[in-house]
Amino acid sequence: MFFQGMLYFDHAATTPVHPEVVKAMLPYFEQIYGNPSGVHRLARQSRQVLEESRERVASCLNVRPEQVVFTSGGTEAANLAIFGLAYRGRHIITTRVEHLAVLQPARELERRGYDVTYLAVDKNGRVHPDQVASCLRYDTALVSVMLANNEVGTLQPVAEIARRCREKEVLLHTDAVQGVGTLDCDFESLGVQALSLSAHKLYGPKGVGALVVAPDLELSPRLLGGGQEGGRRSGTENLAGIVGLARALELALADRVERAARLEKLSEKLYDYLLAIPGVHRTGHPTERHPAIVSVAVEGVAGEALLMELDQAQVAASTGSACSTATLEPSHVLRAMGVPLTRAHGSLRFSLGRSSTEADIMKVARVTRLAVERLRELAPADLRGT
Ligand SMILES: Cc1ncc(COP(=O)(O)O)c(C=O)c1O
Repeated sequence: MFFQGMLYFDHAATTPVHPEVVKAMLPYFEQIYGNPSGVHRLARQSRQVLEESRERVASCLNVRPEQVVFTSGGTEAANLAIFGLAYRGRHIITTRVEHLAVLQPARELERRGYDVTYLAVDKNGRVHPDQVASCLRYDTALVSVMLANNEVGTLQPVAEIARRCREKEVLLHTDAVQGVGTLDCDFESLGVQALSLSAHKLYGPKGVGALVVAPDLELSPRLLGGGQEGGRRSGTENLAGIVGLARALELALADRVERAARLEKLSEKLYDYLLAIPGVHRTGHPTERHPAIVSVAVEGVAGEALLMELDQAQVAASTGSACSTATLEPSHVLRAMGVPLTRAHGSLRFSLGRSSTEADIMKVARVTRLAVERLRELAPADLRGT
């Protein structure tokens, strides 16, 4: 089924594949299908395309081709960074607001006997570089701090944290899955030693991403097999996906600055409308924020109920909190930020994209106001939080 007329405000979850990307990928399903590890000419042709794509991705991020390790997406890239670099010590530092693609590997390392420091964040969701510096130890293997939070959009001071880590010769990985394509993700200027990215967040295909690492950085591989990707990630390469990633990155960077400015304006407008609804509060940093993510908490209503109302009105959004239905616990991000429970349950995330217009913003704001009013009328007085 094709949902025509839906206003899509969930670009932080995933994006549609750009038509140019689809076009670039098509030949690699039926025509150029050789296995890049083979010897014959079809295989060599695929190998050449693979290496050209690596060069294109590398040039977008200002690194050398051999620094790019293709993976099956952001989750695998973050896992490879954390497990692949943990051998360097016994201690890991990360933050309480990371995506589970980072937090779960950190928890697994804890189970295996590592010490893990989970840095607290302030009420806007930010860590301070001093906090990181004060936790660095002689046996710290790795620090992992995300560039932009997927739920509330808060940006972390990654370049400054990288400077502090370099002073102590500790490696820094950044989960830049929400940043690449919209924020400046020049590897050199960020000063990190590992960066994760994912194609489906930037109008590329799902199931492909990359871990970018500092030159000559030794990674302990997670997937063992045929030794592809310089032995760092075995498995026959997803050639069509990788071509799609390269094209998506190029397209994203071609208009990145203007697009980010347009999205920032639109999202500010949406914030203005939403914050004018009584009992609606901003979650996330007011200025150090992802230009396309609008994150609010609504008092007295459940995020899931709001989403259903929005869905009925043809608006696709998401609840940053993803309350687990079994426990009705708000998300770890909102809890780490100290958002009161009465608000955290009503968390709502709108993420804008290329297709978003000013008219859409107005419609979404209107529909949200109506949904909030309706649900508050339905809710028993003791749940209204007033
Ligand atoms: C910040 C962040 N990191 C990692 C991921 C995982 O990426 P993927 O879906 O490509 O595995 C996501 C996806 O939602 C994300 O938002």
